Amino acid sequence: MKLSGKVAIVTGAASGIGRASAMLFAEEGAKVVVADIDAQRGEETVATIAAQGHEAVFAQADVAKEADVARMVEDTVARWGRIDVLFNNAGVVLVKPLEEMTEAEWDRVMSINVKAAFLAIKHVVPHMRRSGGGAILNTGSIGSLVGQLHTPVYIASKGAIALLTKSLALDYGRDRIRVNCICPGITDTPMLREHLGHGAEGEARIRARLSRVPTGEILKPEDIARAALYLVSDDSAGVTGVLHVVDGGMLAAAEYDVPLA
Ligand SMILES: NC(=O)c1ccc[n+]([C@@H]2O[C@H](COP(=O)([O-])OP(=O)(O)OC[C@H]3O[C@@H](n4cnc5c(N)ncnc54)[C@H](O)[C@@H]3O)[C@@H](O)[C@H]2O)c1
Repeated sequence: MKLSGKVAIVTGAASGIGRASAMLFAEEGAKVVVADIDAQRGEETVATIAAQGHEAVFAQADVAKEADVARMVEDTVARWGRIDVLFNNAGVVLVKPLEEMTEAEWDRVMSINVKAAFLAIKHVVPHMRRSGGGAILNTGSIGSLVGQLHTPVYIASKGAIALLTKSLALDYGRDRIRVNCICPGITDTPMLREHLGHGAEGEARIRARLSRVPTGEILKPEDIARAALYLVSDDSAGVTGVLHVVDGGMLAAAEYDVPLA
């Protein structure tokens, strides 16, 4: 078991990649805090983990609010005495051209996708330092490295989290706290459906995008969870400050499936 005796907080663990990661971390021996704004689905994640004989607790938190984050961290330490792993996974997408966007919409995406990582790291690091180290994993996207149509604030947020990661890997290296960023490609979650649309139209958009992916397959939340496990476990001791892309090869090519002559 790769996380035996560890305590892990996974944000956005009521759904998608966060849920799959919380389940895998628990299977690997961690005590897991399932943090999310969505209480009903968060409790479902906890119940699934408990039904498999593993340990988890739900923490309702809006990760963009410092008071909620502080409470989540304090409750974790009060319950289990330490925090070894922080997976800042919660995120939202907004498909909207910049000129149509309101200031509130810009602020919401930046708050959940970037400010939330600042807040969680700020409150967790003193506990990691006290117990001799830890692993922090932020969530970027293929959009941490390249642009994408009609999602400017989402891509700006994912670019920001990438360099926040590198910067903090320097600041916390001597504290034995590793900070990495996982960058998923096209992954089958509720967020992907929200981004690309539902029904036949959504399916057609997904197929069109997959035609640019060398493996040709949509990623499963579990694919990302396994890479996340590597990045938060001792298997990646020595790895810090990296953007770890899990995209079926999509970013390997500037163009793909185009006529050769
Ligand atoms: N699905 C993809 O194709 C894809 C690709 C690249 C990156 N990502 C990133 O992966 C992460 C997880 O995405 P997903 O696809 O699993 O999405 P999802 O929508 O299935 O899950 C996101 C979770 O975050 C929670 N959340 C949203 N706002 C919150 C807040 N303020 N406080 C607490 N929880 C909040 C939601 O309730 C939900 O449970 C996100 O950061 C996303 O940007 C996803």
